[in-house]
Amino acid sequence: MSMKTASKARITAIGTCVPARVLTNFDLEKMVDTSDEWIVQRTGIRERRIADENQFTSDLAIAAVEDMIKAYGKTVEDVDLILVSTTTPDYPFPSVASRIQARFGIGQAGALDVNATCAGFAYALHLANGMISAGLHRKVLVVAAETLSKVTDYTDRTTCILFGDGAGAVLVERDEQHPGFLAAHLGTKGEGGIHLYRTGLSRRMGEAELAGNGCIVQNGREVYKWAVTTVPAGMAKVVEQAGLTLGDVDWFIPHSANLRMIESICEKSGFPLEKTLYSMEYYGNTSAATIPLALSLGIRDGKVKPGDTLLLYGFGGGLVHAGLLVTWMP
Ligand code: COA
Repeated sequence: MSMKTASKARITAIGTCVPARVLTNFDLEKMVDTSDEWIVQRTGIRERRIADENQFTSDLAIAAVEDMIKAYGKTVEDVDLILVSTTTPDYPFPSVASRIQARFGIGQAGALDVNATCAGFAYALHLANGMISAGLHRKVLVVAAETLSKVTDYTDRTTCILFGDGAGAVLVERDEQHPGFLAAHLGTKGEGGIHLYRTGLSRRMGEAELAGNGCIVQNGREVYKWAVTTVPAGMAKVVEQAGLTLGDVDWFIPHSANLRMIESICEKSGFPLEKTLYSMEYYGNTSAATIPLALSLGIRDGKVKPGDTLLLYGFGGGLVHAGLLVTWMP
């Protein structure tokens, strides 16, 4: 589904956090039958950050919010809704969002977690824009945070080389004069859910018996094939909704799952790889957190400037995807 958004909101600040501990490809060579060369060649990943035993998703989420407050001089006490995108909450319940509310003493805020896997940041941003533009909220804190290392099987070389831990936080505030959300495109292929999952209460999906004992299970080939066809088509739709073309996009920020996949998406969509930002090289695939981490790196490196048009594109387990065209106006 594509839509031109009648937005009354924009993103006004960003912060991030990654754990200190580094797990390199050379470390992984000692754990499973793999090589730095294979991992870099197939995925573009060199290192990933791993949370300590006693460090959980809410800890990274809170640190990302603190980073945002410090970097942009914002307050969060007057936030009226907290949306957290995560697939790895500290507990099935209560939500990570409620932990953030408690930590910052945000008196009036509603708080909930959103699960749209690696597309979760884009989905949560879309919801924040919708809530504000409908006049239901004024200031929404959106956080994407993951500790995937806690659900990764470090004996499975097909998955353990991919994932890492991290968090990003943004504020979305009401601004009728300078709205920043231009268009959105969302889609789902639920029958592909079997290609990327973790077991929970159930060990079945349809007729299929699931593997994995709560760790990530993936058919990488199938996810790859789906992403490199679905995302280029979605990119075209989202810019078309805004009455623009891909030539109007300053920076494309796709979910950083795999550099080869991003190269293929750029090739198929005709979008220049040089105008693409990603975060997997030193952080791995951090699911919902890859897009805010990549945006933050782009700002740090002086690439992303106020007024730039960004095409954010999340995709992952579900299978779900979401593209958002936004203006960066902090
Ligand atoms: N090190 C060395 N060899 C490995 C390996 C590793 N870490 N992982 C798999 N291999 C081997 C396989 O066993 C297979 O060997 P075989 O030919 O002897 O059977 C061979 O490499 C090719 O495996 P395959 O799974 O076909 O590799 P691939 O080219 O598809 O790359 C991924 C694997 C996971 C990197 C790739 O499929 C991918 O990135 N998919 C998308 C995953 C993703 O992004 N998921 C998140 C989306 S949100």
